[in-house]
Amino acid sequence: MFKMSKLLDSFGRRISYLRISVTDRCNLRCIYCMPPEGIPLIPHSEILSYEEIRTIVQAAAELGINKVRLTGGEPLVRAELPNLVEMLSQVEGIDEVSLTTNGVLLKKYAVELKQAGLKRVNISLDTLKDDKFQHITRLGKLKDVLEGIEAARDTDLQPVKINTVVMRGVNDDEVLDFANMTHKEGWHVRFIELMPFAGIRDPALRSRTCFVPSDEIRQHIMSLGKLEPCLPITGNGPTKYYRLPGANGTIGFISPISEPFCSSCNRMRLISYGQLCPCLLSDDGVDLKGPLRNNASTQEIRRLILRAVASKPEHHRLAEGVVSMKRNMSQIGG
Ligand code: GTP
Ligand code: 5AD
Ligand code: SF4
Repeated sequence: MFKMSKLLDSFGRRISYLRISVTDRCNLRCIYCMPPEGIPLIPHSEILSYEEIRTIVQAAAELGINKVRLTGGEPLVRAELPNLVEMLSQVEGIDEVSLTTNGVLLKKYAVELKQAGLKRVNISLDTLKDDKFQHITRLGKLKDVLEGIEAARDTDLQPVKINTVVMRGVNDDEVLDFANMTHKEGWHVRFIELMPFAGIRDPALRSRTCFVPSDEIRQHIMSLGKLEPCLPITGNGPTKYYRLPGANGTIGFISPISEPFCSSCNRMRLISYGQLCPCLLSDDGVDLKGPLRNNASTQEIRRLILRAVASKPEHHRLAEGVVSMKRNMSQIGG
């Protein structure tokens, strides 16, 4: 049953969605996310256990959170992720557990995830070319991700959405190929504007040189036909959706820089080491792990969640050049 969250931040935004980064580890090293050598890893003992995550989700659900998404690093590199999916799906008040993954291990886990109660997956894919996939991810094989997408569809982890970060001079020449996949394969493709994070090594990716605004992509796709705005397919995020004439799939734009969506932000982020963060692009956060490990009551955890929600900034400050220096994308999970 749909219940409206009663969790409000100081700007009147209703918070109903919790993104949970279950690990900082990843089996890829994408150029827009991590340096080639990876990042210093957090020791296992500092990472929240599944039981601790469940306790936090129970407290959050009591306050009005009804959707959770598991992210990473790469969430599927954490052992026995389907167990966590099952634990969270059973929390009273949680209507949907979803996953954002790079897809490499999805073929292996799709059936187990579905059986555990996972509703749907979003899969990162930035190129349809083998050699470019190697260049962007530094470690991966395109074939694994394409098989992961197939497995997700075969197991009805639907709708499957493809997340594509567009980078000038890297993969912007493939925008039309991705758009065509909404016809050929019925994919739901979402083009994401590149955001600057601490872990990006290449100065061109870090600066505005490689940034492509959504409107430019939209104009480019218009060469294939009229892009009609359409209703959002299932989702809790900031995407604006369109459809090419006759296509089964949709084309979405996630435009944190050129069309900021902070005024309708509905989410909080739990980082694997136990901080609850009010915004993707700020270094703030409230520690939940310390109190949990000191036997804090559920009431105390709820109070800390409320404090984190109250600290949510009105908007990010990328336009003023303020970027998160402490965390990189692989720690906070997008
Ligand atoms: P749906 O419920 O399917 O719409 O999922 P989602 O779009 O919320 O989740 P997903 O993990 O697929 O997010 C896609 C990407 O959008 C993220 O990795 C980020 O790059 C970007 N994004 C999502 N939420 C935010 C946000 O609150 N702020 C900013 N700046 N970017 C975000
Ligand atoms: N800018 C925009 N999106 C990013 N992602 C990772 N790094 C960046 C970045 N610098 C996206 C990935 C994935 C999600 C977890 O975050 O494409 O879909
Ligand atoms: Fe890994 Fe995702 Fe970062 Fe790529 S974007 S390195 S897949 S965490």
